[in-house]
Amino acid sequence: MILRQAKRWVGHELALVGIEDAPAEADLLVGYALRISKTQLYTEFDRTLTPQEIELLQEVIRRRAGHEPVAYIMKRWEFYGIDFYIDQRVLIPRPETELLVEEAIVCASRCFRKSDITIADVGTGSGIIAINLAMALPRARIYATDISNPALQVARINCQRHKVSGRVELLQGNLLEPLPGPVDMLVANLPYIRDSELKQLSPEIVDFEPGVALDGGEDGLDEVRALMPQVPVKVHPGGSVLLEVGLGQAETVASLMKDRFPGSSVASSRDLGGIDRVVKTVLCGGSK
Ligand SMILES: C[S@@+](CC[C@H](N)C(=O)[O-])C[C@H]1O[C@@H](n2cnc3c(N)ncnc32)[C@H](O)[C@@H]1O
Repeated sequence: MILRQAKRWVGHELALVGIEDAPAEADLLVGYALRISKTQLYTEFDRTLTPQEIELLQEVIRRRAGHEPVAYIMKRWEFYGIDFYIDQRVLIPRPETELLVEEAIVCASRCFRKSDITIADVGTGSGIIAINLAMALPRARIYATDISNPALQVARINCQRHKVSGRVELLQGNLLEPLPGPVDMLVANLPYIRDSELKQLSPEIVDFEPGVALDGGEDGLDEVRALMPQVPVKVHPGGSVLLEVGLGQAETVASLMKDRFPGSSVASSRDLGGIDRVVKTVLCGGSK
């Protein structure tokens, strides 16, 4: 079998089991199984596969047909143009979270006169937010917390891979509790799936991604509500809080913030799909 046939074969097998974007996934999986670059994938069409390579392809088809997400099979995923190590201990990074990173970078650059700011990424998972902020803001000091120790092990691998271990401190614990003191900016993509939605998600999500990264309780906002009372102790007056939220949750989260922090300014930003995705609050009081 040659590469051209292999791509077609894998795409066909994936389509047969109902994978939506079968040709694109086939390319990713063939590239992964054969350990070849994107360029090779699109130029070396007549390359002959070894029997071991064909066996490997059979194995990845079997796993993907069993609904295992491509990111977990390849143990990598790209987020914000950067490659991250990913496995079943963490949520697979979603493109909508790029907005949270962008907003945090803008906020850090515009809202704070001092450049050596402190930031907390709460529920860091694979570390994608903390690591991107560390790379974009070379003088920032970042704390990345997660309740899941296995998730923090993945974040540690990514911090080492991207050489930011010295500036990203990984802390295990509930929300802001492990922080040693107040920070200037709090960024969080906490679980926000509603109980009723959880049951309807695809097997790729329900059977493979960690429940602790998804489940937000009845209205999806259990973790955001639990975070609120911790904010005054762990975020400086005049500091910023940026929260990623799900479809239809921005208004409720904005109200929760306004009620708890009267006088603070609260706004939301839309993602590319037109959904209010990030709620930004600048807490009142204090000098920045
Ligand atoms: C939606 S995932 C986000 C992961 C990562 N930040 C991202 O954007 O891909 C939520 C993360 O919050 C963590 N988490 C859930 N409850 C938590 C809590 N009470 N305290 C700290 N982290 C929590 C989960 O383990 C998970 O890693």
